[in-house]
Amino acid sequence: MLELVPITEGIGTEVRGVDVTGHISDRDFGRIYQAWIDTTILLIRGQHMTPAQHVAFTRRFGEVYAYTRSKFDHPEHPEILVLSNIVRDGKPIGSAYSGRVWHTDGHYLTDPPAGSMLYALKVPPVGGDTWFANMLGAYDALPQHVKERIDDLKVVISRVQSRPYNYPDRPAPTAQEIAEWPDVPQPLVRVHEESGRKAIYAGGNVPWRIEGMSEDESRPLVTFLQEFSVQPRFTYRHRWQPGDIVLWDNRSAMHQATPYDYTAHHRLMHRTTVAAPHAAVPTGRAAS
Ligand code: SIN
Repeated sequence: MLELVPITEGIGTEVRGVDVTGHISDRDFGRIYQAWIDTTILLIRGQHMTPAQHVAFTRRFGEVYAYTRSKFDHPEHPEILVLSNIVRDGKPIGSAYSGRVWHTDGHYLTDPPAGSMLYALKVPPVGGDTWFANMLGAYDALPQHVKERIDDLKVVISRVQSRPYNYPDRPAPTAQEIAEWPDVPQPLVRVHEESGRKAIYAGGNVPWRIEGMSEDESRPLVTFLQEFSVQPRFTYRHRWQPGDIVLWDNRSAMHQATPYDYTAHHRLMHRTTVAAPHAAVPTGRAAS
Protein backbone atom coordinates (compact mmCIF):
# COMPACT_ATOMS: atom_id res chain seq x y z
CA MET A 1 0.00 0.00 0.00
CA LEU A 2 1.24 3.47 -0.89
CA GLU A 3 2.71 5.42 2.02
CA LEU A 4 4.05 8.98 1.84
CA VAL A 5 6.46 9.72 4.67
CA PRO A 6 8.23 13.07 5.25
CA ILE A 7 12.02 12.76 4.90
CA THR A 8 12.68 15.68 7.26
CA GLU A 9 10.43 18.40 8.67
CA GLY A 10 11.70 20.80 6.02
CA ILE A 11 12.08 18.84 2.80
CA GLY A 12 11.14 15.76 0.87
CA THR A 13 8.82 12.77 0.86
CA GLU A 14 9.76 9.12 0.92
CA VAL A 15 7.39 7.08 -1.23
CA ARG A 16 6.90 3.57 0.17
CA GLY A 17 4.93 0.59 -1.03
CA VAL A 18 5.43 1.06 -4.78
CA ASP A 19 7.27 -0.77 -7.51
CA VAL A 20 7.83 1.91 -10.14
CA THR A 21 8.03 -0.70 -12.90
CA GLY A 22 4.57 -2.04 -12.03
CA HIS A 23 1.11 -0.53 -12.15
CA ILE A 24 0.60 2.67 -10.17
CA SER A 25 -3.02 3.80 -10.31
CA ASP A 26 -3.81 7.35 -11.39
CA ARG A 27 -5.08 8.04 -7.88
CA ASP A 28 -1.85 6.89 -6.23
CA PHE A 29 0.24 8.61 -8.86
CA GLY A 30 -1.68 11.84 -8.24
CA ARG A 31 -0.73 11.68 -4.55
CA ILE A 32 2.92 10.99 -5.41
CA TYR A 33 2.97 13.86 -7.90
CA GLN A 34 1.43 16.27 -5.40
CA ALA A 35 4.01 15.28 -2.77
CA TRP A 36 6.74 16.12 -5.30
CA ILE A 37 5.25 19.57 -5.94
CA ASP A 38 4.64 20.25 -2.22
CA THR A 39 7.89 18.98 -0.71
CA THR A 40 10.33 19.43 -3.65
CA ILE A 41 11.95 15.97 -3.64
CA LEU A 42 10.75 12.37 -3.70
CA LEU A 43 12.79 9.38 -2.54
CA ILE A 44 11.84 5.85 -3.62
CA ARG A 45 14.10 3.10 -2.33
CA GLY A 46 14.76 -0.48 -3.42
CA GLN A 47 13.83 -0.18 -7.09
CA HIS A 48 15.11 -2.21 -10.05
CA MET A 49 14.61 -0.34 -13.32
CA THR A 50 15.94 -1.02 -16.77
CA PRO A 51 16.88 2.15 -18.68
CA ALA A 52 13.62 1.87 -20.65
CA GLN A 53 11.62 1.58 -17.41
CA HIS A 54 13.48 4.57 -16.00
CA VAL A 55 12.49 6.67 -19.02
CA ALA A 56 8.89 5.38 -18.85
CA PHE A 57 8.57 6.21 -15.13
CA THR A 58 10.05 9.68 -15.73
CA ARG A 59 7.49 10.24 -18.47
CA ARG A 60 4.65 9.99 -15.96
CA PHE A 61 5.89 13.32 -14.55
CA GLY A 62 6.08 15.11 -17.91
CA GLU A 63 7.90 15.18 -21.22
CA VAL A 64 11.37 13.68 -21.01
CA TYR A 65 13.88 16.32 -21.99
CA ALA A 66 17.36 15.35 -23.19
CA TYR A 67 19.20 18.66 -22.97
CA THR A 68 22.46 17.21 -21.72
CA ARG A 69 25.66 16.59 -23.58
CA SER A 70 25.56 13.68 -25.98
CA LYS A 71 29.01 12.28 -25.09
CA PHE A 72 27.71 10.80 -21.84
CA ASP A 73 24.20 9.95 -22.94
CA HIS A 74 23.29 6.31 -22.42
CA PRO A 75 24.17 4.53 -25.70
CA GLU A 76 20.70 2.99 -26.20
CA HIS A 77 18.61 5.53 -24.30
CA PRO A 78 19.84 9.04 -25.04
CA GLU A 79 17.23 10.46 -22.62
CA ILE A 80 19.49 9.17 -19.85
CA LEU A 81 22.64 11.02 -18.83
CA VAL A 82 25.25 8.72 -17.28
CA LEU A 83 27.07 10.10 -14.24
CA SER A 84 30.02 7.89 -13.37
CA ASN A 85 33.75 7.62 -12.82
CA ILE A 86 33.87 4.20 -14.51
CA VAL A 87 36.29 3.94 -17.43
CA ARG A 88 35.60 1.22 -20.00
CA ASP A 89 38.06 0.40 -22.80
CA GLY A 90 40.02 3.48 -21.84
CA LYS A 91 36.99 5.79 -22.13
CA PRO A 92 34.92 7.33 -19.32
CA ILE A 93 31.33 6.08 -19.57
CA GLY A 94 29.90 9.07 -17.77
CA SER A 95 30.45 12.52 -16.39
CA ALA A 96 32.51 12.04 -13.23
CA TYR A 97 32.55 15.47 -11.65
CA SER A 98 29.26 17.21 -12.41
CA GLY A 99 27.14 19.14 -9.97
CA ARG A 100 29.70 19.83 -7.24
CA VAL A 101 28.27 23.23 -6.35
CA TRP A 102 24.74 24.13 -5.30
CA HIS A 103 22.69 24.61 -8.46
CA THR A 104 19.44 23.87 -10.25
CA ASP A 105 19.64 21.98 -13.53
CA GLY A 106 19.49 23.99 -16.71
CA HIS A 107 19.13 27.31 -14.89
CA TYR A 108 20.91 28.91 -17.85
CA LEU A 109 18.14 27.88 -20.27
CA THR A 110 15.16 30.07 -21.10
CA ASP A 111 12.89 27.09 -20.28
CA PRO A 112 14.68 25.27 -17.44
CA PRO A 113 13.57 21.70 -16.84
CA ALA A 114 10.89 21.01 -14.24
CA GLY A 115 12.57 18.01 -12.69
CA SER A 116 15.47 15.58 -12.67
CA MET A 117 15.31 11.92 -11.66
CA LEU A 118 18.51 10.28 -10.44
CA TYR A 119 18.74 6.49 -10.09
CA ALA A 120 21.61 4.86 -8.20
CA LEU A 121 23.16 1.71 -9.67
CA LYS A 122 26.59 1.65 -7.95
CA VAL A 123 27.57 3.80 -4.99
CA PRO A 124 30.78 4.23 -3.00
CA PRO A 125 30.74 3.19 0.68
CA VAL A 126 31.53 6.75 1.77
CA GLY A 127 30.77 10.04 0.01
CA GLY A 128 29.10 10.54 -3.35
CA ASP A 129 26.04 11.82 -1.46
CA THR A 130 23.70 14.49 -2.80
CA TRP A 131 22.48 17.51 -0.88
CA PHE A 132 19.06 19.03 -1.54
CA ALA A 133 17.67 22.39 -0.41
CA ASN A 134 14.01 23.37 -0.29
CA MET A 135 13.83 26.82 -1.84
CA LEU A 136 10.09 27.17 -1.10
CA GLY A 137 10.82 26.80 2.59
CA ALA A 138 13.77 29.17 2.32
CA TYR A 139 11.61 31.82 0.66
CA ASP A 140 8.80 31.42 3.21
CA ALA A 141 11.28 31.94 6.05
CA LEU A 142 12.77 35.16 4.69
CA PRO A 143 12.05 38.34 6.64
CA GLN A 144 9.19 40.30 5.04
CA HIS A 145 11.40 43.26 4.11
CA VAL A 146 13.75 40.94 2.19
CA LYS A 147 10.80 39.37 0.34
CA GLU A 148 9.61 42.82 -0.65
CA ARG A 149 13.10 43.76 -1.80
CA ILE A 150 13.65 40.67 -3.97
CA ASP A 151 10.16 39.75 -5.24
CA ASP A 152 10.46 41.59 -8.56
CA LEU A 153 14.20 41.26 -9.16
CA LYS A 154 15.75 39.26 -11.95
CA VAL A 155 19.05 37.43 -11.90
CA VAL A 156 21.30 37.17 -14.91
CA ILE A 157 22.75 33.69 -15.37
CA SER A 158 25.82 33.20 -17.49
CA ARG A 159 26.09 29.72 -18.97
CA VAL A 160 29.62 30.56 -20.08
CA GLN A 161 30.71 31.48 -16.55
CA SER A 162 28.78 28.56 -15.01
CA ARG A 163 30.49 25.89 -17.14
CA PRO A 164 33.61 25.40 -14.95
CA TYR A 165 31.39 25.22 -11.85
CA ASN A 166 28.91 22.72 -13.29
CA TYR A 167 31.38 20.62 -15.29
CA PRO A 168 34.94 21.13 -14.01
CA ASP A 169 36.17 18.20 -16.11
CA ARG A 170 35.07 19.80 -19.38
CA PRO A 171 37.14 22.20 -21.47
CA ALA A 172 36.38 25.91 -21.33
CA PRO A 173 33.56 26.99 -23.68
CA THR A 174 34.66 27.45 -27.27
CA ALA A 175 34.32 30.75 -29.14
CA GLN A 176 31.28 29.28 -30.89
CA GLU A 177 29.63 28.25 -27.61
CA ILE A 178 30.32 31.68 -26.14
CA ALA A 179 28.63 33.26 -29.18
CA GLU A 180 25.65 30.86 -28.93
CA TRP A 181 25.08 31.10 -25.17
CA PRO A 182 23.60 34.47 -24.28
CA ASP A 183 23.15 35.39 -20.63
CA VAL A 184 19.63 34.47 -19.46
CA PRO A 185 17.56 36.58 -17.06
CA GLN A 186 15.53 34.54 -14.56
CA PRO A 187 13.17 35.68 -11.81
CA LEU A 188 15.01 35.72 -8.50
CA VAL A 189 11.75 34.70 -6.87
CA ARG A 190 10.06 32.06 -8.94
CA VAL A 191 6.33 31.50 -8.67
CA HIS A 192 5.83 27.76 -9.08
CA GLU A 193 3.57 27.31 -12.09
CA GLU A 194 1.69 24.42 -10.45
CA SER A 195 1.36 25.39 -6.79
CA GLY A 196 1.59 29.17 -7.05
CA ARG A 197 4.11 29.14 -4.16
CA LYS A 198 7.20 31.30 -4.27
CA ALA A 199 10.75 29.91 -4.22
CA ILE A 200 14.15 31.56 -4.23
CA TYR A 201 15.46 30.65 -7.66
CA ALA A 202 18.96 30.63 -9.10
CA GLY A 203 20.50 30.89 -5.67
CA GLY A 204 23.22 28.36 -6.37
CA ASN A 205 26.95 28.85 -6.09
CA VAL A 206 27.43 29.59 -9.76
CA PRO A 207 28.18 33.17 -10.79
CA TRP A 208 25.08 35.30 -11.12
CA ARG A 209 24.24 38.95 -10.72
CA ILE A 210 21.10 40.94 -10.27
CA GLU A 211 19.80 42.58 -13.42
CA GLY A 212 20.75 46.26 -13.43
CA MET A 213 23.63 45.72 -10.96
CA SER A 214 27.25 44.73 -11.36
CA GLU A 215 28.56 41.53 -9.77
CA ASP A 216 30.16 43.64 -7.01
CA GLU A 217 26.90 45.46 -6.28
CA SER A 218 24.96 42.16 -6.33
CA ARG A 219 27.36 40.30 -4.04
CA PRO A 220 25.94 41.17 -0.56
CA LEU A 221 22.40 40.09 -1.50
CA VAL A 222 23.63 37.10 -3.51
CA THR A 223 25.79 35.89 -0.63
CA PHE A 224 23.01 36.40 1.91
CA LEU A 225 20.49 34.40 -0.16
CA GLN A 226 22.98 31.63 -0.92
CA GLU A 227 23.85 31.18 2.75
CA PHE A 228 20.26 31.58 3.95
CA SER A 229 18.94 28.87 1.58
CA VAL A 230 21.27 26.09 2.69
CA GLN A 231 20.65 26.22 6.42
CA PRO A 232 20.09 22.76 7.96
CA ARG A 233 16.35 23.39 8.37
CA PHE A 234 15.89 23.53 4.58
CA THR A 235 18.36 20.82 3.53
CA TYR A 236 18.75 17.06 3.36
CA ARG A 237 21.86 15.02 2.54
CA HIS A 238 20.96 11.82 0.74
CA ARG A 239 23.29 8.88 1.33
CA TRP A 240 22.63 6.69 -1.67
CA GLN A 241 22.00 2.96 -1.74
CA PRO A 242 21.79 1.03 -5.02
CA GLY A 243 18.17 1.02 -6.15
CA ASP A 244 17.38 4.50 -4.78
CA ILE A 245 15.52 6.95 -6.97
CA VAL A 246 15.37 10.65 -6.13
CA LEU A 247 13.25 13.03 -8.17
CA TRP A 248 13.78 16.71 -7.47
CA ASP A 249 11.79 19.72 -8.61
CA ASN A 250 14.21 22.11 -10.29
CA ARG A 251 11.75 24.96 -9.80
CA SER A 252 11.85 24.70 -6.05
CA ALA A 253 14.97 22.74 -5.01
CA MET A 254 18.71 23.14 -5.38
CA HIS A 255 21.12 20.22 -5.21
CA GLN A 256 24.81 19.54 -4.89
CA ALA A 257 26.86 16.36 -5.30
CA THR A 258 29.62 15.56 -2.80
CA PRO A 259 33.01 14.00 -3.61
CA TYR A 260 34.18 10.45 -2.91
CA ASP A 261 37.36 8.47 -3.42
CA TYR A 262 37.40 8.10 -7.22
CA THR A 263 40.56 6.05 -7.16
CA ALA A 264 39.09 3.33 -4.93
CA HIS A 265 35.36 3.16 -5.67
CA HIS A 266 32.88 3.33 -8.50
CA ARG A 267 29.73 5.41 -8.63
CA LEU A 268 27.18 4.88 -11.40
CA MET A 269 24.01 6.96 -11.61
CA HIS A 270 21.46 7.43 -14.40
CA ARG A 271 19.72 10.78 -14.69
CA THR A 272 16.63 11.71 -16.67
CA THR A 273 15.09 15.15 -17.00
CA VAL A 274 11.45 16.30 -17.07
CA ALA A 275 10.66 19.34 -19.23
CA ALA A 276 8.73 22.31 -17.88
CA PRO A 277 5.01 21.79 -18.64
CA HIS A 278 4.86 24.73 -21.06
CA ALA A 279 8.25 24.18 -22.72
CA ALA A 280 8.65 23.28 -26.35
CA VAL A 281 10.64 20.06 -25.96
CA PRO A 282 13.60 20.17 -28.28
CA THR A 283 13.99 17.25 -30.62
CA GLY A 284 17.78 17.54 -30.76
CA ARG A 285 20.25 17.59 -27.93
CA ALA A 286 22.23 20.68 -27.09
CA ALA A 287 25.72 20.18 -25.70
CA SER A 288 25.84 21.43 -22.15
C1 SIN B 1 23.53 16.47 -10.61
O1 SIN B 1 23.95 17.57 -10.26
O2 SIN B 1 22.59 16.36 -11.37
C2 SIN B 1 24.20 15.21 -10.09
C3 SIN B 1 24.04 15.00 -8.64
C4 SIN B 1 24.81 13.79 -8.19
O3 SIN B 1 25.52 13.17 -8.98
O4 SIN B 1 24.72 13.48 -7.01
